[in-house]
Amino acid sequence: MLREFFGAGHAFLTNSWTNGAVAALLALGIGPGDEVVVPAMTFIASANVVELVGATAVFVDVDPQTLLMTPEAAAGAITPRTRAVIAVHLYGQMCDLAGMQQALSAHPGVILIEDAAHAFESSRDGYLPGAHSDMAIFSFYATKNITCGEGGAIVTNRSDLASRLDSARLHGMTKGAADRFSGGRYNHWDMPCLGTKANLPDLLAALLPAQIETIRQRLPARQALANRYREAFSGLPIRLAKVLPQCSTAEHLFPIHVDPAVRDEAIMALNGGGVSVTVNYRAVPATTYYREKYRLSPESFPVSREWGEGAISLPLYPRLSREDQDYVIQVVREAVVPLVESRAARPA
Ligand SMILES: Cc1ncc(COP(=O)(O)O)c(C=O)c1O
Repeated sequence: MLREFFGAGHAFLTNSWTNGAVAALLALGIGPGDEVVVPAMTFIASANVVELVGATAVFVDVDPQTLLMTPEAAAGAITPRTRAVIAVHLYGQMCDLAGMQQALSAHPGVILIEDAAHAFESSRDGYLPGAHSDMAIFSFYATKNITCGEGGAIVTNRSDLASRLDSARLHGMTKGAADRFSGGRYNHWDMPCLGTKANLPDLLAALLPAQIETIRQRLPARQALANRYREAFSGLPIRLAKVLPQCSTAEHLFPIHVDPAVRDEAIMALNGGGVSVTVNYRAVPATTYYREKYRLSPESFPVSREWGEGAISLPLYPRLSREDQDYVIQVVREAVVPLVESRAARPA
C-alpha cells in the first residue's frame, strides 16, 4: 500500500521514525568518523539518530522565510567525511529535493535522506517524498497526521539498498520469523550488517491502511484551516513560515512566531484563554547536549535559534471547528498581539 501511495519500489514499516532512521544509517554503514548534515531547526530526533550510530551531526541554519534547509546550505556543509544529508520537511512543507539532488551531484557518495515525519501527504512541484532522494522516512507517532501510536516507514527506490534496510530493522537478520520456518523446515539466517529492533508489530500496522486510504481526502480540511489562520494573521505583528506556491503542504503543524521576549507570556495568555499550544521546536544545537559536545556558541545558527525562541504552535487538526478556530484567532488578537506591540513600543 505504501509502495502504491508513493509510487516507490520498496517500503518497510518500522516501529518509529527514530528507529527506522537508526536502522537506515546502520544499513548504510554510517558510524564513527562520518558526518551527516542536518538542519538546526527540526525535532531533536533528526540529529539524535546520527549521534546514536556514533557519527557526527553537522548542523546548517535554515532559510529565514520557509525554515527549510536549502540545497546551497546543504552543499556548503559537505566535507570529505560527509556520508549523508537529512532534509527535513518541516511542518509538512517539502524541501527543494530536486535542487538538493543537483547540488549533491558533485558528491556522488553522499546519501540524501528525507525526514518526512511531517510530510506523508505533501508534494512539491508535483513530486512526492521518496521520488528525489535515496529514501524517505515517515513517522506514525501519536501526534502525526497518520498514526498507530508509535510507528514509521522507510520508502526507497534504491533496489541495491532494499534488502539491507529490510534486515537492519530486524537486528540485521536476513530472515524474519515467518521466513525461518517456511516450507516445513528450518531455514538458516545470516547477519550481513549490524541492525536494530525497528520492525512494526502487525497489531499496530493494522491501524494504518484505513488512514492511508483517506489521508488525501482529509488534506483539504487541514489546508483550509491553515489558510484561514494565515488570512486572519496577515498584517499582525506575528511571523509565519512562508509556504511556497510550488508546495502542497501536509500542514502538520501551524506555528506562529512572536518576539522571543514575550513568547512565554504569550503562551501563558493563550493557556489562560483555554487555548492549548506547544513549541515546535527549539533549535537543536541550542540544547545542552549539542551545545556542550560541539562547543557551539549561542550566536550560531541565528535563524533557527530566533525562530525556536519565538515559536508557538496553535491548534490545527481536521476536526477543529470554525467556531473554535475563531476563538483561537480572537485570543491571539486580543491577548498575544498587545504583548508584542507593547514590547515593540519599549526601548530595546
Ligand atoms: C521532524 C521529525 N523527525 C523525526 C521525528 C521522530 O519521529 P518518531 O517519534 O516516530 O521517532 C519527529 C517526531 O515528532 C519529527 O517531528
